[in-house]
Amino acid sequence: MSDNHPRPAVPRVRRELPVTDHVPRPYDGPPRAKVLALRKQYLTPGLLTYYREPLLLVEGHMQYLWDETGTRYLDGFAGIVSVSVGHCHPEIVRRVQQQIGMLQHTTTIYLHPNIGEFGRRMAEHMPADSGLSVSYFTNSGSEANEIAVLSAREFTGNVDVISLRNGYHGGTQGAMALTAVGTWKFKTSPAANIKHATPGYCYRCPYGLTYPSCDVRCAKDVEPLIRYETSGAVAAFIGEPIQGVGGVVTPPPEYFRIVYEIVRQHGGLCIADEVQTGFGRTGTAFWGFENWGVKPDLVTMAKGIGNGAPLGACVTTPEIAAMMARRVHFNTFGGNPVSVTQGLATLDIIDRDGIQQNAYAVGTHLKQRLMELAERQPLIGEVRGMGLMLGVELVRDRVTKEPANTATADVLELAKERGLLIGKGGLLGNTLRIKPPMCITKDDADFLVETLDEVLTLVTRRNQGTP
Ligand SMILES: Cc1ncc(COP(=O)(O)O)c(C=O)c1O
Repeated sequence: MSDNHPRPAVPRVRRELPVTDHVPRPYDGPPRAKVLALRKQYLTPGLLTYYREPLLLVEGHMQYLWDETGTRYLDGFAGIVSVSVGHCHPEIVRRVQQQIGMLQHTTTIYLHPNIGEFGRRMAEHMPADSGLSVSYFTNSGSEANEIAVLSAREFTGNVDVISLRNGYHGGTQGAMALTAVGTWKFKTSPAANIKHATPGYCYRCPYGLTYPSCDVRCAKDVEPLIRYETSGAVAAFIGEPIQGVGGVVTPPPEYFRIVYEIVRQHGGLCIADEVQTGFGRTGTAFWGFENWGVKPDLVTMAKGIGNGAPLGACVTTPEIAAMMARRVHFNTFGGNPVSVTQGLATLDIIDRDGIQQNAYAVGTHLKQRLMELAERQPLIGEVRGMGLMLGVELVRDRVTKEPANTATADVLELAKERGLLIGKGGLLGNTLRIKPPMCITKDDADFLVETLDEVLTLVTRRNQGTP
């Protein structure tokens, strides 16, 4: 940390977690050490865990989680943005229990009332004149993106696909090939016919330019990328309206309009990956793409769609969807009665309980308070995002923007010790990711900010050698 930064004051007395009337059941399962040992011995080492001492979580209720000792945490990361309306939401639990006791599975070769109804509800939630009315249900976001790219290639007859650097589209081979971030990508994952364009990451503009005088060069560069590095005709462009894993990278407002126009001029379809931004999370719109005034041809989603259920979807127009009927194509669990029941219950709660409106109100308050925090916490380089999809990028020096990676890891650890779970990520691994279940209250948001305030102060003072 360079010396010309202010020294934050010694932490004040800390705010307590807001009260809840939920009483967790006593945990009588195996001890944490045994759970950890089993995991280390029998599960793939490819599964990462957060925290120096990985956390054992045994119960959840709405925005809160409990570990095996009964310690409560505010969930500021929602199972990586999956829990949209609250952990074990009582209405969802009741409806899923009812369904699982009636019929768990048959596959889509038979009829079941819930799948068609869920398809209808999906279509209803798309912009009125978008033509996006046909769903393909999957078990994950990766699978939804595979289907979207496959459909676009079949529909256009082109093979080249444009995705964004710093984006994340999943862990299957095809989805990983769309992902350009080095640490996520296995060397053998094929990226043939995929070209990576520049995202609208203004805080670290690769051209060294500043918005708006940059004339949104990152978006306009898609044109020469297609002209010189593809066959000249593309199948699709895929992008997250706000990059999630990439560190809540929020582009300039006209970024997607420019990119979509260029891609369409070259015969391509546009895919919006709404796995993190959908279902009201950005507060100002139900879908992230609506914030940018664009209309995608295919929309992919997962995570928040089912409040934690293994459920995803690719929603498109009847014309594009028809391509998938050219071959025998089958998905054993996609759209099964239990997952779809969970999706329907989630959607009912989002609509009925004003979840998007809460994401807007609490998210606006939270972002405002984080921006105030940035004024007195020198580690904060930028606060960005919308609604309850927020990122705080930490730097060692605001001028050089040197990433504060160790501090980011320390902040996560110290926040956990104080009852707050948040995520981290970003191009350089130095962005705090704050994406709680969308049922959180202003009191929770205040607890989150004040805990971060204390923790950032401790980390800064530690870095400065001040006790
Ligand atoms: C934007 C985005 N797309 C796709 C995926 C992949 O989803 P899944 O892990 O359900 O396959 C993720 C997962 O984090 C994601 O964040």
